Amino acid sequence: MRIEMREGHEGTGPGAITPDGCAVELYSRLPVGAEPDIIAAAVPAGARILELGSGVGRMTHPLLERGFTVTAVDESAEMLERVRGARTICSPIENLDLGETFDVVMLASFLVHTGDEEERRGLLRTCVRHVAAGGSVLIQREGEDYHSKVPRERVDPSGFTVRIVSAEPVGDGVNSVHAEYVFPDAVWTQTFLARPLTKDQFEEALAETGLKVDSYLTPDRVWVRAVPMD
Ligand SMILES: C[S@@+](CC[C@H](N)C(=O)[O-])C[C@H]1O[C@@H](n2cnc3c(N)ncnc32)[C@H](O)[C@@H]1O
Repeated sequence: MRIEMREGHEGTGPGAITPDGCAVELYSRLPVGAEPDIIAAAVPAGARILELGSGVGRMTHPLLERGFTVTAVDESAEMLERVRGARTICSPIENLDLGETFDVVMLASFLVHTGDEEERRGLLRTCVRHVAAGGSVLIQREGEDYHSKVPRERVDPSGFTVRIVSAEPVGDGVNSVHAEYVFPDAVWTQTFLARPLTKDQFEEALAETGLKVDSYLTPDRVWVRAVPMD
């Protein structure tokens, strides 16, 4: 299991911080948005889902409530300790080889935008390795203006503010992104490396590993259903 911080990634604030700079306590507090409904509308009822980078189960739990079976994978044991009702596997995604396939493989939270292209290939190969014949890979990618509309902030109705403070180029097409989550009683920050990908670059990245876009599931093209190439 990878335990050291990833280069270019940092997190501050109370509680455990994962190698990519995410705070376990923060993700335990963040409400889930429309994601479970987007996923539920895109996959067969009762599907077996492999969720890569599940964190504390922010999406896992609503998916279980909707009748799906979920296997949750994360490299952080502290994150997985908070997942309830799902099989959990503590592993870097790139190394995962369960020897079984799933109706749906999910790669959410913009993980496909990792700055390291070899890591990205590893993540996508894991998706390919674990998707059943006729199944689908659901990927969450960044919105078009993720790196350009900065700084920006959103006040969540539940009482916290999330800010993308900056996205600064660090070379080779990669940006260092700095985010802040301000709650009345605590502040968390995360700094991470992310590679912006246009729609064409994203589709090329999929093709490199034998995947193609089947459909964009949301008008902003953030959620994508990909399938193995014939
Ligand atoms: C931004 S958090 C999101 C968690 C969850 N998807 C959510 O939406 O609440 C990203 C999670 O992915 C995990 N992660 C990132 N890169 C990973 C990798 N290469 N292998 C395994 N886990 C990874 C982190 O430990 C963290 O829990």
